[in-house]
Amino acid sequence: MFIPLIQVAGEESVDDSQVSESLGILKFLVTGITKAGFELTPLVILSFLFVIFLAKGLIKYLEGHYKVNVQMFFVKKIRYQMVDSLGNMAFRNFLKLDAGRVQNTLSGEIYKIVSAYVAYFNTLQSAVLLLVYLILALMANFEFAILVSIGGYLTNFIYKIIYRHTETASVNNSKLSHKYQSLLIQAVQYFKYLKATSYFETYKLKLRSYVDQIEEEQKKIGIFNAILQASREPLVIGVVILVIIVQINVLDGNIAAIFLSLLFFYRALNYIMLVQTGWQAFTSNLGGLHVGVELLNDFENGLEVNSGTQKAESVRTITLTDVSFGYNPQNAILKGINLTIEDNRTYALVGRSGSGKTTLTNILAGLIEPSSGTFSINGIQREDVDLASFRKRIGYITQEAVIFNDTLFNNISFWADQNLENIERFRKAAQLAHLEELIESLPEKEDTLLGDNGILISGGQKQRISIARELFKEVDLLIFDEATSALDSETEKSIQENIESLKGSCHIILIAHRLSTVKNADEILVMNNGLIEASGSFSELMNSNPRFKTMVELQEF
Ligand SMILES: Nc1ncnc2c1ncn2[C@@H]1O[C@H](COP(=O)(O)OP(=O)(O)OP(=O)(O)O)[C@@H](O)[C@H]1O
Ligand SMILES: [Mg+2]
Repeated sequence: MFIPLIQVAGEESVDDSQVSESLGILKFLVTGITKAGFELTPLVILSFLFVIFLAKGLIKYLEGHYKVNVQMFFVKKIRYQMVDSLGNMAFRNFLKLDAGRVQNTLSGEIYKIVSAYVAYFNTLQSAVLLLVYLILALMANFEFAILVSIGGYLTNFIYKIIYRHTETASVNNSKLSHKYQSLLIQAVQYFKYLKATSYFETYKLKLRSYVDQIEEEQKKIGIFNAILQASREPLVIGVVILVIIVQINVLDGNIAAIFLSLLFFYRALNYIMLVQTGWQAFTSNLGGLHVGVELLNDFENGLEVNSGTQKAESVRTITLTDVSFGYNPQNAILKGINLTIEDNRTYALVGRSGSGKTTLTNILAGLIEPSSGTFSINGIQREDVDLASFRKRIGYITQEAVIFNDTLFNNISFWADQNLENIERFRKAAQLAHLEELIESLPEKEDTLLGDNGILISGGQKQRISIARELFKEVDLLIFDEATSALDSETEKSIQENIESLKGSCHIILIAHRLSTVKNADEILVMNNGLIEASGSFSELMNSNPRFKTMVELQEF
């Protein structure tokens, strides 16, 4: 644009028709400069040029600033939404999810979503600029601009095919990544087993096959990118050359006008290229968007329905009346359960494997909803209770102790502030769970890291830490899924003491696998095939229930 301007300025006498010829409608620039009181000298024009580019630099900075803000807002929003939706899922629907898929979408795929978004934004921006340049080119020399636009439009057909294939490869890539993540999670989780059995070798082949498949899809995307990059310039330059030839020979255009138009077009071409690269970047990341939306939909469809508003400040009684439950209607897992949990008593659930013990505790913890019958907390129906407030009153010691890869203090206090009050609470909880000796033996006391899944401590210690966490929480109902694994007698004794020390301080429900636990419970519930077949104290049941008697004799809990 400035070359004809400088050319105009350099000439002694500027005649109006000459200006019109080389600048087209953009003549207003020259008129503007003279109207502003400046003489049309090369220095003025060069200064004008500098000011314009300075302004452009400023706008570019503002643009970058704005973009990064929008991007940050977007990434935060999508991450928050994903984490919130995951947390709001009903437990039952969560069971249908695949860990690899959740993990992959929430970590790796999020980046693809963000990249797709950034690419989309960039494409839009380039498209707007392209339009501006095309309009400017049109103003300078409309025949040229129209011819080139047609050329640009035609090349797009080739690109469309590439975009389609890229999208397919991108979606495949994302789905394969779910599988890979899933296998990877399990490789880490079951490392000990895989290592000890040398199964890791076989497992590794499975992992490798997914790595190969993922890279195959990635390669396809790379090749499509290469084709696009490589063909873009020859195609576009071909179109330009064709247009110039047509202009010179057929339309007999003025060289200076063509030159200006060509400069405009060169810029426009840049933006055509940017639009295309932007769109290609968008399609290569579309897989992330597809799987992200799919997962969010699954999250939304699996939301826990909880419109209850009555807070359960404390849990005094839990009553199940004729409660039945099945994951599907034709297969009832619990059949007409009647049970009242009250008076800070300790209940031991015993029964064969698959008899419904875990399912019953899931109902009691409000994790799953009875298919029929009623479940009430302090006499209020489950539907009317604010479940989150109820769960705040629940402690759950799962069969496989939950240990976070953090310090012992954070594991017990669940990342509470290390203020005087919490430190005192921590001490009390640790003391009740018989952890003092362990803490003393650790190199950095309660600030010692416990490793992934508590890899650095023993099974019994893990369980005691889990107990301490629930004690720190101060709960009204403690659900205790006793470990079935054979523990050494020392640990068993210590766990027994742990349970004993808790008795009477809250309602305790134990899924019991040890005779000692069963013996000491206030009430034993014998489960059989989804029913509470009998209940009572140890001695009562030994006399009245032959199944229980046999179970005790054979130690089959
Ligand atoms: N998510 C699920 N979907 C379908 N069926 C399930 C699901 N979870 C458990 N079940 C079935 O429910 C029945 C009761 O299972 P539950 O886990 O309550 O038994 P359990 O008494 O705790 O057994 P164990 O002593 O082996 O832990 C079993 O037949 C089991 O197959
Ligand atoms: Mg179970």
